[in-house]
Amino acid sequence: MALLIICNDRDLSPWTSALRNIDPKIELRVYPEEGNLEEIEFVLCWKHPRGILKHYPNLKAISSLGAGVDHLLSDPDLPLNIPIVRIVDPELAHAMSEFVIGLIFNHLRAFTQYHENQKQKIWDVNNFQIAPNVHVGIMGMGVLGQDLAIKLAAIGFKVVGWAQSPKEIKNVKVYTGSDEFDEFLSETNILVCLLPLTEKTKNILNKETFSKIQDQAYIINVARGNHLVDEDLIEMIDGNRLSGASLDVFRIEPLPENHPFWAHSKINITPHIASLTNPISVAPQIIENYKRAMAGQPLLNLVSTKLGY
Ligand code: GLV
Repeated sequence: MALLIICNDRDLSPWTSALRNIDPKIELRVYPEEGNLEEIEFVLCWKHPRGILKHYPNLKAISSLGAGVDHLLSDPDLPLNIPIVRIVDPELAHAMSEFVIGLIFNHLRAFTQYHENQKQKIWDVNNFQIAPNVHVGIMGMGVLGQDLAIKLAAIGFKVVGWAQSPKEIKNVKVYTGSDEFDEFLSETNILVCLLPLTEKTKNILNKETFSKIQDQAYIINVARGNHLVDEDLIEMIDGNRLSGASLDVFRIEPLPENHPFWAHSKINITPHIASLTNPISVAPQIIENYKRAMAGQPLLNLVSTKLGY
């Protein structure tokens, strides 16, 4: 029995020590040091090399190393009979909400602009809006979307959400499904995308969507780069329909040097850091799922491969 971590984009020592700390007896391996493939019964993955997950004949469960599972479901060779779980973690939600709230206030109070002005010793006063006069529309009312909605409503923002299925959240009106999408958009001054990436949601941040929100609306994408049609965003900002955007995720990451987003004065870029999984916080749920998988028990945070989240 072994748990294999497959992830090539970061130092994995905090992960191995957090997992070993919870259960020192677990046989932990890190790809590409797989050892005997027949012994791999649980994998913890982030952007694995396509096709490799079918190479483990005794695999019992696949866990995403983050909240998203699009990196798994987009593998055409994914073994579909193996259950997939994802990370659901209050720390991850907290970090995401703090980040988005920071971006919203940076937009409303123009901190970046003042910082630029300071460099040139410019004393220039901007008008601003306060929270009760701003409608924030959140696309995606899963664990992250709901946490953000509750925190924004507590600050005093008018908050609306858009979800696949009905949700009851105090002080937040949640619109449902494609029938209510336009009504959701029509109220929105700041649009935040926190959707899972699925066949239905890819390219959803497009010209048509942008044309239905309030004039001079601001876009925040902290979900996936493939939700956004890049050229449509630039066209709508340059055409003065949108006031700008903050983007943390991109179709290609790192964002290529020649991408027009880099030099756009109304687009704020961060390198996919809105919320990062803290190994210490999530190690207990990974080990719990590992033990459940070994015992043939129901897994926590199971993903529906049909829904894509
Ligand atoms: C990060 O993007 C995640 O899916 O956890």
